[in-house]
Amino acid sequence: MSVPIVRSVAQLREIVAAWRREGARIAVVPTMGALHEGHLSLVRAALERADRVIVTLFVNPKQFNSQSDLATYPRTEDEDAAKLAPLGAHLLYAPDGIEMYPEGFATTVAVNGVSEELCGAFRPGHFEGVATVVAKLFLQTGANLAFFGEKDFQQLHLVRRMAHDLDIPIDIVPCPTVREPDGLALSSRNERLSPSERQVAPKLAAILIDAAARVAGGAQINATLDEARSAIAAAGYARVEYLELRAEESLAPMQTLDRPGRLLVAAWLGETRLIDNVEMPSRLESIAHKECAA
Ligand code: PAF
Repeated sequence: MSVPIVRSVAQLREIVAAWRREGARIAVVPTMGALHEGHLSLVRAALERADRVIVTLFVNPKQFNSQSDLATYPRTEDEDAAKLAPLGAHLLYAPDGIEMYPEGFATTVAVNGVSEELCGAFRPGHFEGVATVVAKLFLQTGANLAFFGEKDFQQLHLVRRMAHDLDIPIDIVPCPTVREPDGLALSSRNERLSPSERQVAPKLAAILIDAAARVAGGAQINATLDEARSAIAAAGYARVEYLELRAEESLAPMQTLDRPGRLLVAAWLGETRLIDNVEMPSRLESIAHKECAA
């Protein structure tokens, strides 16, 4: 069993039109390939909710800040296709650069505000690249549903905003971050870690979870985040780009726990930039946790 691969928008549209005539509900899972269990969990979730699932594979040059990052990004199409086939994904859409951005391509989708903060402050142009390609993928596939991981929480927020603002009729479905048994969030970039960095890497999630529990338990927010930043550096991370408490819905900065929140982080481990985020436990959960532990 193998997954059919299409490379052109025209071919993709023909197949989707036939599915539509059958009344199928169509989902898209956008990826840049190098598929891991996190991506596969999105595909499984999509298969539960839709009749046809398109996985897209396009290493989008517009969202990379450095040429060397783009050049070294893993390209593993054969392995990716082999992982998708047993799940029952219906189509792999893998256009090349010219199909996606033909000669003369001149349009950029910019989601103002959210694109300049958190990761956006450190990766100028990144989110314009993401919004542009995701808008194109939504319009090319005409899918009813799109699945995104919460690991890239800011991206998820931006994609929702973009689809809403541009009246693209698609439901954005968030899926929980998949983690290694030691807590490290799955990412294609984890492959770049040396064995010793790989040992240090999961401390980021542990520190994040601990800080979230302490804030939810009543600890002062700024002091707790400062301590967490120091703990990340002490664990062996070279640089913490940001560690911030933001509102779950709007991603606005939060000074008090007056709404559901997310704790988000980006930090460098050697030459590798890792990001992660956790949902803030509610104050009640945190009290229950303390009582159980006592
Ligand atoms: O999350 C990713 O892999 C990419 O940013 C996406 C959404 C596929 C757009 O290139």
